[in-house]
Amino acid sequence: MSVISSKDVYEIIRKTLSIINSKIMNHGEITGYILYKMLECEQIYTEQELVDYTMLGILHDIGLYKEDNISNVSDFETKNPWQHSIYGFLFLKYLSPMDDRAEIVLYHHLDYNRYGLIQSRYKHIIECLNLADKMDTFLHLQKEKFEKDYFGCYRDIIFSGAALDLFHRAEAQYGITANLVSGTYKEELAELLAKRAFSEQYKKGFLEMLVYTIDFRSEHTVVHTLATVNFGQQIGRLMHLGSRDLRDLYYGTLLHDLGKIAIPLSILESTGRLSDDEMKVMKAHVRITEMILAGVVEDAVLQIAVRHHEKLDGSGYHKGLTENQLTLPQQIAAVADILSALYGKRSYKDSFSSELIRKIMKEDAENNKINKSVVDTLIKNYDKVIAEFEKEKENTIGLYLKIKEQYDVISERFLSFQ
Ligand SMILES: [Fe+2]
Ligand SMILES: [Fe+2]
Ligand SMILES: [Fe+2]
Repeated sequence: MSVISSKDVYEIIRKTLSIINSKIMNHGEITGYILYKMLECEQIYTEQELVDYTMLGILHDIGLYKEDNISNVSDFETKNPWQHSIYGFLFLKYLSPMDDRAEIVLYHHLDYNRYGLIQSRYKHIIECLNLADKMDTFLHLQKEKFEKDYFGCYRDIIFSGAALDLFHRAEAQYGITANLVSGTYKEELAELLAKRAFSEQYKKGFLEMLVYTIDFRSEHTVVHTLATVNFGQQIGRLMHLGSRDLRDLYYGTLLHDLGKIAIPLSILESTGRLSDDEMKVMKAHVRITEMILAGVVEDAVLQIAVRHHEKLDGSGYHKGLTENQLTLPQQIAAVADILSALYGKRSYKDSFSSELIRKIMKEDAENNKINKSVVDTLIKNYDKVIAEFEKEKENTIGLYLKIKEQYDVISERFLSFQ
């Protein structure tokens, strides 16, 4: 049995990204829907291909979330379209199950008359996404921003004429614009994504991509979630949790800080002590996580995620629960989160020495903040736990550096396209 259904994976992505900027998410959904209908009209794709391309259509602007201030989306889309195209591509390529199909996102702002400069086996999907993207902007947002007879003037220059013809055929067959106006496209999208049960790997891939997209906003938080998941799993195994508890703990820790997506970088990266008001904002991430996950993941997963700041003596947040209200997996998640914070480098501190970390954790356990037997188990196995985590960390940091490096290389290449 699966903890999170395919439809709900999509729902988590949708809700999370909507919190940062609902305009981008709406635009993504409409673009994805238009693309889906255009491709469906051609009747040459498997159901899995349709799902994959539709997901890419929905997520085509995911690179915009790398920006901290994305209030003026249309500026990013038109003035400097490469940055988000490249980040979106890199996120999807390295962090999602999309691998080389991520190219479709890389080129979504490339003018049609430049296609000769690129090599891609997905040129047709690229031209369709490019058109779907413009169609949404045209139909819904700023018709007036388009020159009169835009679609007549720039055929086969900015966009592909073949893609436009395909759109018109799909429009005649399915009534795309009518479905957009009435809102029924949302049900159609949900149906498509529910029809195709994603594999566990596919779902995990997308959730991990979502989490990394958030963590990658700041170099300091980039390994925090990964470390929490890793420590949680290791401690869980040492404490002999059953496979179901381990699985719940995995998803609970993976999703525990999703709500941080709504916290401004100035607070996340603050180098000093947070003021009371800032602390209030920071603490809100738990409630936001709860808002996103409520109703879309099993309760066991939800509770692990939203209780990671609770303390056994009731001094934690956001509910102030006490020891007998907190399950062992929830208490392990809290310990894993603290260990991750102490062990990791942050904007306001360097990594602590292992003596200091052990001392702090022991004190916390003695003061009835966190579970004593969990801490004892951790400390007994401390070096092994850290060594195992370090191995995995190398890969993530490697990935992070690779994405930064690739970003520069690709930007360079894109300059020649202008
Ligand atoms: Fe874009
Ligand atoms: Fe777009
Ligand atoms: Fe947290």
